[in-house]
Amino acid sequence: MEERLQKFLAEAGVASRRKAEELITAGKVQVNGKTVTELGTKIDPQKDEVVYAGKKIDRQREKLVYIMLHKPEGYVTTAKEQFGRPAVLDLVKGVEERIFPVGRLDYETSGLLLLTNDGELTYKLTHPKHDVEKTYIARLYGTPDDSALQKFRRGVIVDGRQTKPAKIRILEKGDRICTVEITIHEGRNRQVRKMCEAIRHPVAQLKRVATGELRLGELPKGKFRYLTAAEVKYLKSL
Ligand code: URA
Repeated sequence: MEERLQKFLAEAGVASRRKAEELITAGKVQVNGKTVTELGTKIDPQKDEVVYAGKKIDRQREKLVYIMLHKPEGYVTTAKEQFGRPAVLDLVKGVEERIFPVGRLDYETSGLLLLTNDGELTYKLTHPKHDVEKTYIARLYGTPDDSALQKFRRGVIVDGRQTKPAKIRILEKGDRICTVEITIHEGRNRQVRKMCEAIRHPVAQLKRVATGELRLGELPKGKFRYLTAAEVKYLKSL
């Protein structure tokens, strides 16, 4: 049965579906010896030969792996880092499969980051229409009053667009800094930081503690673990 080239590449563990689209348009993928740059291209995995980076791509080649990493501050989430800063992939040495991060955490943000070679799951979890809840613990400058909290919950303007309803509750008040729990459904660039700036309580520290019901728990900073079968099943059900 024919299917779209980007879907085939994602399922074969080459890259996330969006990244696979970029590889195609950049002319890095060949089908039956010819470079294909058209995104609509359909292939028959039984008959057509797909080559990326000089290698024939076979969907059954790699087993699918699912990893949770406790990302420390001071690591970039992108695979290739142009400024020589440490990258999260340096922390998952020993994993044979070619895994990639599901979405992104900022350089200064710590916490739960999923990594996998399952491009289909990555696509699902990062696509805006799926609305997966992400929970953060943030330390903010000052303590937001009720009106600031309400504003945050209703949505604020970030990069010219209103954010979707979000949750925020104060866990601990301090003299200069308070600790809050925040839940958002979107994954826009630096969204939590920008939302907190919009209510004039900038972020001093940010950590992601959950994706949906999947929790970081006691996993030590800088360490990773494989997800359990039940956790993988849960993510696929979202
Ligand atoms: N929101 C942010 O501002 N930064 C992150 O790393 C994640 C969500």
